[in-house]
Amino acid sequence: MKYNIYLIGFMGAGKTTIGKHLAKDLQMPFVDLDEWIEAKNNKRITDIFHEDGESTFRKLESASLHALDNLGGVIATGGGVVENDANIEFMKNNGTLIYLKSPFNELLERISGDETRPLTKGGQHKLLKRYEKREPMYEKADLHVYTFESTPTDVCRKIMKMLRV
Ligand code: S3P
Repeated sequence: MKYNIYLIGFMGAGKTTIGKHLAKDLQMPFVDLDEWIEAKNNKRITDIFHEDGESTFRKLESASLHALDNLGGVIATGGGVVENDANIEFMKNNGTLIYLKSPFNELLERISGDETRPLTKGGQHKLLKRYEKREPMYEKADLHVYTFESTPTDVCRKIMKMLRV
């Protein structure tokens, strides 16, 4: 059975903003996976990265995906959720996977200097490498939506059309 709509894409792609908007349009619940992880573990993402390491964060991320399997809503995931193949498979089996796609330079502009995103601290080159490594993973989504120079309303309209609702 297909329950959730999962939004995937690189940091800064607008997953949270568009997810909230889409959930409202579809009258479905909305969860931001990073916020869920922070609330369940009573710890900020940056502190999880710094104190426990990225691999611990990835485990919490996968566990949270599973915990939300029955939400019946829109889930804005973190940009790195696709790094685990099993997560992609799980999301595809449990809902519709939507890739919010933007050019790297645009994403960089939106996320640079953001203290809440631990991975932005490694510099531009490292981020580009991550983006390039992840692109084929994001491309595995059921639907691809180009978000560059589009308002959240426009993007949601496109998604609704693709979902035929
Ligand atoms: C990450 C993206 C972040 C957050 C964490 C790791 C990533 O979420 O999950 O900092 O690996 O790309 P956003 O994509 O919402 O920034």
